[in-house]
Amino acid sequence: SADLKKGLPLVNQKILVTAGPTYEAIDPVRFIGNHSSGKMGFAIADELVKLGADVVLVTGPTAQVSHQRAVKRVDVTSAAQMLAACEQYYADVKACIMSAAVADYTPVNVADQKIKKQGRNLNIELKTTVDILRTLGEKKHADQYLVGFALETNDEEQNAILKLKKKNLDFIVLNSLNDTGAGFKGDTNKITIIDSNLQKTIYDLKSKDEVALDICNKLVELIKG
Ligand code: CTP
Ligand code: CA
Repeated sequence: SADLKKGLPLVNQKILVTAGPTYEAIDPVRFIGNHSSGKMGFAIADELVKLGADVVLVTGPTAQVSHQRAVKRVDVTSAAQMLAACEQYYADVKACIMSAAVADYTPVNVADQKIKKQGRNLNIELKTTVDILRTLGEKKHADQYLVGFALETNDEEQNAILKLKKKNLDFIVLNSLNDTGAGFKGDTNKITIIDSNLQKTIYDLKSKDEVALDICNKLVELIKG
């Protein structure tokens, strides 16, 4: 396969991708999660392999499968596990595309036994998780590329630019929930890419596979200068 890959733009480049939701345990049978399907990240991992890259896909719980056998899949459950897996691979990679919907909060305590119902309200105290992308952004070397996503419902571009800067990204993929057909669950997505020069590209509504290729092409453009 080394010969077959020759001439592809990302040959010999290691790339880390994150996908899916994270699940934050409350007790042995319950968790806090979100509706991320993982489709976008799996599609990106497949496209990167087709472009010749060596891909590590760190994914939260999802029903997705990789269509490219060369994708190295690492399954995790929680935000803390996703952070640990990303930190393990980060030093060796040329680029990261972080599409996971990582929990922002996790329970302070995880009950070792199933919490019984009681005749009153239940409060679960939550603490913030570590921002994985921001942590990697702080360690980023001059020859590494970092791509994030932003899911916004309001002041989309302004919020996306704040995330781009705060997390030291090379570009950010803005998914607006105001665009019909975009978002977590469906097979289509509508994105805007904003790069570190604040150059903005608005893409049409497309299948997630086609969106994945647009994102990968933008990365190739940056890596190839
Ligand atoms: N992200 C991450 N680790 C977290 C939270 C987010 O790596 N603990 C990454 C996501 O994978 C995504 C980007 O940060 O690429 C932006 O995620 P998003 O939820 O849109 O932004 P937040 O910074 O979490 O801010 P908020 O949810 O308040 O909008
Ligand atoms: Ca968030």
